[in-house]
Amino acid sequence: MLPGRLNKDGIRIYSPEDFAGMREAGKLAADILDRIAAHVVPGVRTIDIDNAILDMIKEAGATSATIGYKGYQHASCISINHVVCHGIPSDKKIKSGDILNIDVTVIVDGWFGDTSRMYVAGQPNRKAERLIDITHDCLMKGIEQVRPGNTFGDIGAAIQRYAEAHRCSVVRDFCGHGLGRVFHAAPNVLHYGRWGSGPVLEPGMFFTIEPMINLGRPETKILADDWTAVTKDRSLSAQFEHSVGVTETGVEIFTISPAGTFHPTWDRAEA
Ligand code: MF3
Ligand code: CO
Ligand code: CO
Repeated sequence: MLPGRLNKDGIRIYSPEDFAGMREAGKLAADILDRIAAHVVPGVRTIDIDNAILDMIKEAGATSATIGYKGYQHASCISINHVVCHGIPSDKKIKSGDILNIDVTVIVDGWFGDTSRMYVAGQPNRKAERLIDITHDCLMKGIEQVRPGNTFGDIGAAIQRYAEAHRCSVVRDFCGHGLGRVFHAAPNVLHYGRWGSGPVLEPGMFFTIEPMINLGRPETKILADDWTAVTKDRSLSAQFEHSVGVTETGVEIFTISPAGTFHPTWDRAEA
């Protein structure tokens, strides 16, 4: 039995006590993303990063939500450069200047914590750094809209307005999602949309916001491995993800970085 109740839009409303469970799961996922930064260096294979992530999950007594999910076999998704999302860890080595998203979802006491952020091997070039900054700011613009009475459309509209004002595009083919005692639940959280449209936000809703923003066109395609999503025009793509809860007055971010390194994960170059 899942806790809470479904509202009229079929979105689960969790109770105030349930926030504690999300906080623990979110904190572990964020802490793992903090600690993995040291592994992101030129020459390392993405499978080595994934193995380190799995070790951290196990050492914490938690479980990976992605291993076994629809046949997926890894503890993270690692999406490099023009890979939009769902990059599969492999023998591929990261090169200096590569930008990568690392996405981790853990289960702690039955609660799901889902977060991702951007890393760079060495220093990003100016174009890449700009895309990453814009994408991070898109996520935060979306989170700013989270409060009772606003709508899911407000979240998408805020993200889309910011991305397009900066001549970037919002990926339409993937979205955020409700989560809690399950990995993916209603609603689909779109990263584009119209102000005032969509379901109304209520205290006790738990969901992710995880915009994927491209330097070029928004279209994606899936590679033959059936997972890896890339930009059709091979333009650079970035993504950030937080798990959040709607409170009586606004929002709680469950996946805040304990080290304060959600963004940037690297040292900014001297000007
Ligand atoms: N963590 C991803 C998300 O943000 C989902 C990854 S599913 C996997 O929803 F199977 F690809 F790992
Ligand atoms: Co997610
Ligand atoms: Co994720």
